[in-house]
Amino acid sequence: MSAAQQSHIIALTGGAGMMATLLRPFLAAAGHSVRLLDIVPAADPGPQESVHVGNVADLDFMVESLTGCTGVVHLGGIHREQAWEDLVQTNITGTRATLEAAYRNGVEHVLLASSTHAVGFHPSAAAIAGEPLVPRPDSYYGVSKAAMEALGGLYADKYAMKVVSARIGTGGTHPGNTRTLSSWLSPADSARLVEATLNEIGAPGHHVVWAVSANTRGWVDTTGGQGIGYFPQDNAEDFAGAIDEAGQQEWDQLLGGYWSSAGHKLGIDNFPRLVVP
Ligand SMILES: NC(=O)c1ccc[n+]([C@@H]2O[C@H](COP(=O)([O-])OP(=O)(O)OC[C@H]3O[C@@H](n4cnc5c(N)ncnc54)[C@H](O)[C@@H]3O)[C@@H](O)[C@H]2O)c1
Repeated sequence: MSAAQQSHIIALTGGAGMMATLLRPFLAAAGHSVRLLDIVPAADPGPQESVHVGNVADLDFMVESLTGCTGVVHLGGIHREQAWEDLVQTNITGTRATLEAAYRNGVEHVLLASSTHAVGFHPSAAAIAGEPLVPRPDSYYGVSKAAMEALGGLYADKYAMKVVSARIGTGGTHPGNTRTLSSWLSPADSARLVEATLNEIGAPGHHVVWAVSANTRGWVDTTGGQGIGYFPQDNAEDFAGAIDEAGQQEWDQLLGGYWSSAGHKLGIDNFPRLVVP
């Protein structure tokens, strides 16, 4: 930890999930106490961790779980395209409950796990150029993440909280294909983003940043993250040799990639159109 960093009591929603599981060792090493909130129990809690089972959309559960916390990392929710009703309940209502519980408990620092898919219909070139990208979702999931960002802005503006909406590229231990050589967020860099959110943000406000590593082939501008003290250090290119790039289809014209194509259906119902133009 740097001199500016201190130990926190962190509520980590989605504490049993993939990204949280990769993040937890870094938070423990930094000396934080971590509450693992999830609808399923997180495995193998360490001495500084506690397990809290409940629904992120349950405001009472969230208010109780966040009592005494100094920061919230909100990863809990549905991470892919799903039925509209489920995404609304879990990702939108769940984010509202998280922010409302943070506010009621006086927790100033909140990191929200947004996604590239909140802005998936923007050309990738606009992201590289560093243009501010208003929401342009490529899916119901993307809409839920755009709503997450809107809620983050609301609570930051209304209650002078310090909220970061992190547009995560692709989490995981390592990049797995050509696309993720551009979009990867390493576990260590996800921890750097948490530390920036908890320790580096000065004035209250809502900060929308790209949550990606310092990838050689990165297609987003990372200066927004630098503005809150997030300086990624890992590079997906270190893994490029292990990736077979031959024959892989590039979906790099739009940020959402394949999700922005007509082939990627909305929701899970996929009712046929009654009128085909
Ligand atoms: N993995 C990625 O590449 C990626 C990219 C962009 C954004 N994100 C976002 O980051 C977050 C974490 O992603 P992940 O890959 O670890 O997903 P994950 O599915 O592995 O983890 C999400 C966790 O949330 C929990 N959860 C689901 N519904 C819940 C509810 N109603 N109440 C409490 N907990 C609930 C699940 O049980 C799960 O453990 C998600 O919000 C996802 O949308 C992930």
